[in-house]
Order: sequence, then structure tokens, then C-alpha cells
Amino acid sequence: MERPVPMDSRSGKIGIVGTGLIGASWGAFYASKGLAVSLFDADASARQAGRERTFTYLTFLKEQNLLDAEGYDQAIASVTLTDDLSEAVGGARLIQESVSERYDVKKDVFRQIDRAAPPDAILASSSSGLLISELQTVMQHPGRSLIAHPFNPPHLIPLVELVPGKQTAPEVLAEAKALFESLGKVPVVLNQEVPGHIANRLQAAVWREAIDLVLKGVASVADVDKALAVGPGIRWALMGPHMIFHLGGGPGGIQHFIDHVGVSFDKLWADMASWTSLPAETTDALVSGVREEAGDTPAAELARWRDEKIVQLLKAIHDD
Ligand SMILES: NC(=O)c1ccc[n+]([C@@H]2O[C@H](COP(=O)([O-])OP(=O)(O)OC[C@H]3O[C@@H](n4cnc5c(N)ncnc54)[C@H](O)[C@@H]3O)[C@@H](O)[C@H]2O)c1
Repeated sequence: MERPVPMDSRSGKIGIVGTGLIGASWGAFYASKGLAVSLFDADASARQAGRERTFTYLTFLKEQNLLDAEGYDQAIASVTLTDDLSEAVGGARLIQESVSERYDVKKDVFRQIDRAAPPDAILASSSSGLLISELQTVMQHPGRSLIAHPFNPPHLIPLVELVPGKQTAPEVLAEAKALFESLGKVPVVLNQEVPGHIANRLQAAVWREAIDLVLKGVASVADVDKALAVGPGIRWALMGPHMIFHLGGGPGGIQHFIDHVGVSFDKLWADMASWTSLPAETTDALVSGVREEAGDTPAAELARWRDEKIVQLLKAIHDD
């Protein structure tokens, strides 16, 4: 497929299809980078609420000095809302599909986008767990589609997981990667499709063990959360487990770590949870444990605190 000149961070239009939690946040992200954003959702009230949330996120970025006054005004002016999918994706360079996580819903939307978008527009799906190869089966131009899975909230978290399907054109993957990099995202590329991509699988592995420690009575919900957040979590904001253990191996690095410490993990793995569906008692244990941990602080206040700290962390990480 003939590819046009790659879009840089100051040109092109983005069509957002589905303006729920993720679509609205993507809208703020792209608008904050100076791109024209057209928002569409099949549900009128979700559409309105989505635009409001996009504006709220842009205001947050301005308050956090991640967007100056001029950039903010431009971003607000660049966001349009439409009740017509064809209008949202018409003339777009990239469409960020963010509708409900169901094959029937996404396939229907993929068909519509495929018909209405320019043939060289990239169709990027936010899907957390569906296979792009399956979604491609309904497309006339499957080569231009891939998964671009964000980590919530996309207007703050740098990670985007790129997953090509069986029919994704290699140049489309390369163009999407270059685009996200030019916009300040940190893309990772999966060489094969697996449910949950990379980051959600890692989260699922840790969460299973975290739940199991609570259910076995080893520690409270609050202490399990604390052990992760103020221990490994601080290092994990900077580097992944392999680099961490490379440093843990001293001068011998990862080789020394595997040879001398790695074996001690065998006993842990043998003792750890391996169940594949949530035990029945999970809900009661987690609901009461989280209630105790959160106290009277409303979730919205905790989310605000989290987002402000994420911004400070990102500034610290990128300031060297
Ligand atoms: N929630 C997360 O933390 C998270 C993180 C990363 C990726 N994702 C992925 O992002 C996607 C959206 O998730 P969400 O959490 O924003 O869901 P959501 O329920 O908040 O939003 C989905 C939106 O899609 C709209 N929609 C449904 N059918 C539609 C159609 N036919 N045409 C247009 N719009 C339609 C709904 O009205 C709704 O506003 C999913 O694929 C999900 O896997 C979610």
C-alpha cells in the first residue's frame, strides 16, 4: 500500500469513535498535541459527557503546566463533536476506535469506519483484549488497522501497546509507531497477538498473587497495596523487572542474578496462587479491605491525587 508522508505532531485530523472513559481521554491527548479531534459516539448522552470529560482533562493538563494558555485555547477549539460517524472519520489520518469491548460492536464499527475513512487512514483500536486479526475479517482495507492499546488515562500515561494483526501492513505499524513517538508516547510492539497484550498480563499476574495473600490472611488489603506501591512500584516506574534484576546481580549483572538468586524464585512460584478464576470470597474480602484502606476519601478525590502525582512522577522521570 502506498503510504503518504507520515503525520507529525502538528498536522492531521484524528477521529475518535466511542467517547467513554478511554475515548474522551484520547481526545484530550490528541488535542493537547495540536491535532484536530472529531468526537463521535453512538449514544447522544455519552457523546456530550465525553466532550465534557475531554475538556476537563485539557483543563487538568493546563493546571499542571503541561499545556500553556495558547495551547489550551487551541486544543479546546480543535475539538468538535458530531453525531455522524462518517463526518468524524472523513479526512482523518488516524481513527482511534474506543467503543465497547465486544466483537459484535467493534466489528460493526470497523465495517462503518472502513467504508467512510480515507483508504490510507490508520484505524487504531484501543481494545484491551480482543484480537485485531478477528476484527480485520470484516474490513475491505485490513492492512491499515492495528491495536493501539493505551494505559488509562491515555492523556497522562505514556505507554501505548501496538499489536499488528495477521493482515496489518508493516509500513502501517512503522507509521503508527513513528506517529506515537512524535507525540511523546512510548510505544511497545507485540510480535504476536496474546489476550491482554503485555501490561495487562503483568497486572493480572501481580493482582492474582495480591488477592491470594489477602484471602490466605497473610496481610490486609491496605498492607498488600502498600508493599507494592512503596517498594517495587517505585522502581517499576523507572525500569522493568529484568533491568531491576540486572542491577540486583551486582557487577555480574543478570547472569549472576539468574545463577545465584534465580533459583530461590522456584520455591516462591511453587507456593504461589495459580487459580484461573476469582475465588468466591474475593468480592467480600476486597470490598471491605478497600473500604478500610480508602476511608472517607471519595474515589474522585483519590483519582485526582493519583493524577497529580503521576504528573509529578512524569516530570521527575523526564527531567534528566
Ligand atoms: N477502561 C480502561 O481502563 C481501558 C484501558 C485501555 C483500553 N480500554 C479499551 O478501550 C475501549 C473502550 O473502553 P471504555 O472503558 O472507554 O468503555 P466505555 O464503556 O466507557 O465507553 C465505550 C463507549 O462506546 C460507545 N459505543 C458503544 N457502541 C458504539 C457504536 N456502535 N458506535 C459508537 N460508539 C459506541 C458507548 O456509548 C460508550 O460511550 C475498550 O475496547 C476497552 O477494552 C479500556
